[in-house]
Amino acid sequence: MSQKIQIFDTTLRDGEQVPGCQLSTEEKVIIARELEKLGVDIIEAGFPISSPGDFRSVVEISKSVTEPIICALSRVKIPDIENAAESIKYAKRQRIHLGVGSSDIHIKHKFNSSREEILEMAVSAVKFAKTKVEDIEFYAEDAGRADLAFLAKMVEAVIKAGATVVNIPDTTGYCLPDEYGKRINYIFEHVSNIHQATISVHCHNDLGLATANSLAGIRNGARQVEVTMNGIGERAGNTSLEEIAMVLKTHSYLGYHTDIDTRHIYNVSKLVSGMMKMPVQANKAIVGKNAFSHSSGIHQDGFLKHAENYEIINPNEVGIPSSLIILTARSGRHALRHRLELLGYQFEKSEIDELYQKFLLMADERKQIEDADLIELVGYFTTVGVK
Ligand code: KIV
Ligand code: ZN
Repeated sequence: MSQKIQIFDTTLRDGEQVPGCQLSTEEKVIIARELEKLGVDIIEAGFPISSPGDFRSVVEISKSVTEPIICALSRVKIPDIENAAESIKYAKRQRIHLGVGSSDIHIKHKFNSSREEILEMAVSAVKFAKTKVEDIEFYAEDAGRADLAFLAKMVEAVIKAGATVVNIPDTTGYCLPDEYGKRINYIFEHVSNIHQATISVHCHNDLGLATANSLAGIRNGARQVEVTMNGIGERAGNTSLEEIAMVLKTHSYLGYHTDIDTRHIYNVSKLVSGMMKMPVQANKAIVGKNAFSHSSGIHQDGFLKHAENYEIINPNEVGIPSSLIILTARSGRHALRHRLELLGYQFEKSEIDELYQKFLLMADERKQIEDADLIELVGYFTTVGVK
């Protein structure tokens, strides 16, 4: 039977940290409601101790969204934890996500501490948070570079202290997919109480590997994946929601599924990009402007004969009305005829051959040929008496 992968969306926390992406409380509530419709399981609503505005946003999201768990981020500090608990008190289902560095680099150069001290801080923070909220997720920051034996010891200790979910973040986007997968596997093999908690993956995209790493984590036992819409997030971003949802759907034989209603993906992507003033790159997988556009003659001909020749996903599945045939000087006759037919023009083969030569001259000059250009081309063609 297919196994459910929990989708933990951190667009409003890790995503909103990005310079220029800050949102008002009202905008965050709108996005949170759309994420709920999309079917995410957990919404990380913010880091409430960071500012009064973020606190208010977490409170308002907690009041407005009912299905997903509402999660607040915290450090391993008592005031953070108290503030986080307060911010989610109206949520139907509440979670605190707290944690501390796990790599020697973080322990030494960020906390000026020792492994023993960090372990003690982690355990007592989880125990304290547990007195406030039942569902506690612990993040072992920079787990991608942590000593494996120490990481396993930390995971075991926080589960014993009451953590229900343990997040193994590749905070700096350093890992390679097979290596990250082995880390997750090592944790499953070396943590005696591992089955008392869910293991979560949270990957950054510094080397463009966030989605591949998250998938490797899932294939090695993780059952929660932390994502953002359009992959926004610190530096090069986080694993993108749309990529994980469509990887698992397209490769359903792997035996995993999510509850994401993929037909809403495109609308939510546009909403987030618009509100955060963060354009989506044209070649972005799934939601980029070119993700379902065909521009070379060979591809256009193959696509028009049978869409699956060049598409592994039907655009309707992600809420995009149709694929696009872009007319440029690289396009062929088949694409030209197709677009003319869509505009209501029918031509014989010999006419298309002639029109095509004129089309190429126009396309070399204008780069991309739009419907208005085609109408102009046909107008010229018919007035010079060829048709
Ligand atoms: O990248 C990271 O490690 C984080 C944690 C706060 C989970 O965002
Ligand atoms: Zn992160």
